[in-house]
Amino acid sequence: MAESKQWWRDAVLYEIYVRSFADSDGDGLGDLQGIRSRLPYLRGLGVDGLWLTPFYPSPGHDHGYDVADYVDVDPRFGTLTDFDALVADAHALGLRLIVDIVPNHTSNEHAWFRERRDLYVWRDEPNNWPSTFGGPAWTFDEERGRWYLHLFAPEQPDLDWHNPEVPAEFEAILRFWLDRGVDGFRIDVAHALYKDAELRDEVEPFPVTAFSSDWRAGIDRPEVHPLYRGWRRLVDSYPGERVLVGEVVFSDPARVAPYVRPDELHLAFNFTLLFEVWDAERLRATINGSRAALGDVGATPTWVLENHDVTRLPTRYAGGEPGRRRARAAALLLLALPGPVFLYQGQELGLEEAELDDEDRQDPIFFRTHGARTGRDGCRVPVPWTDGAPGFGFTTGSPWLPLPADWGGVAVSAQSGAAGSTLELYRRALALRPRGGGLAWRDGPPGSLVLARGDLTCAVNVSGEPFPLPPGELVLASDPSVQDNLAPDTAAWLRRGAA
Ligand code: GLC
Repeated sequence: MAESKQWWRDAVLYEIYVRSFADSDGDGLGDLQGIRSRLPYLRGLGVDGLWLTPFYPSPGHDHGYDVADYVDVDPRFGTLTDFDALVADAHALGLRLIVDIVPNHTSNEHAWFRERRDLYVWRDEPNNWPSTFGGPAWTFDEERGRWYLHLFAPEQPDLDWHNPEVPAEFEAILRFWLDRGVDGFRIDVAHALYKDAELRDEVEPFPVTAFSSDWRAGIDRPEVHPLYRGWRRLVDSYPGERVLVGEVVFSDPARVAPYVRPDELHLAFNFTLLFEVWDAERLRATINGSRAALGDVGATPTWVLENHDVTRLPTRYAGGEPGRRRARAAALLLLALPGPVFLYQGQELGLEEAELDDEDRQDPIFFRTHGARTGRDGCRVPVPWTDGAPGFGFTTGSPWLPLPADWGGVAVSAQSGAAGSTLELYRRALALRPRGGGLAWRDGPPGSLVLARGDLTCAVNVSGEPFPLPPGELVLASDPSVQDNLAPDTAAWLRRGAA
């Protein structure tokens, strides 16, 4: 394992959406043994660590983000013994392993929701808060004759963090996994745990997009910061530089900054690029804005282009051949930026959003609230490992979401060792990626992004016209056509000569 101090400051962490990564037992769902069998692939890809989405027992209304038991493994994904073996194997290969913790809400099937009802947020009358998944954030409980709060689905009741029993429970949960050797936690909805104690009505306007928490004054409360300072002390008391990564969902990085002070979370997701369009000035402004807001507090912004909640990058960037080209160019931009990077499984294959028939869709939340033609399933389709194998080598059974029949060419087996493939581009970029140091913008033609990191220059053509490469030795290009010129929607890395 890398011994460098603050290894996380420029790490690449790879998100594994557990049920879609690799299935070892033929039930059509990915599992821990499946991940274990693919660790050499991840080592060979060149990432520093893995983030596992929730694998805890769960009825699956939000595919694991509705946890019924925080200190066990869902039998569909394996056992605690499998988990221990996975940690041991990952560490033996020098890979860190971070797990997802979901402290804002539990499943409505968690024993606490039956037996310890005061751990949740109740009211005689609902306030006007909407749920992120659509509809009101309150559901009436017949038995209690009161309303309970759920910022997400009704099957995900929110915990009352003002009740001191809740932080006490979670400290024990964190210790449980730290003692098992995890290298840290990704904290789900990290800004929302404490609600306005009086649960006052929100002042309009309400959000129009899912995952926009920007509007809500009843969350992002000051009480959450002492909690994370305590968690930081706890995590830092364990050996091995373990990390806390917050999912702090604000479009303005200035609102993320208070969470990543030196005595709070080590890192927080910076989702700005995830929602940015393919436009040079906007990309530059977004990168600069994130660096300014987070640099001010001594933090380092993280960079994210894909995750399990958002449409795949090539599809967001126009789809088809232009989308694929842009996504490959964006990969070189992403991996040239200073600071930690999160990759999402399949991003390194250039996977596009999968088209699914309505009857195959499994994201019940979006299915229910946004109509049958939307949802997050398209980015959650299992990884195609082997061209020509049944289930593309993901499973010997029937995959929980069907893989598109034409995915043979993007399978790992087809791209491995293939010159010019997206997988080889990622492998090479991860090997060459600069570590440490700052970023300096260089002048370039209109519609270009040219930045220097140490002796590496990254040039991206976001315009409609080709332009000449900046000086330096060409070491990597997003497209084989790049030689002296950079065609539209391509990128290159160049190294300054010794002279
Ligand atoms: C986070 C997760 C998302 C989940 C939600 C509720 O945003 O990334 O998948 O639905 O939290 O737990």
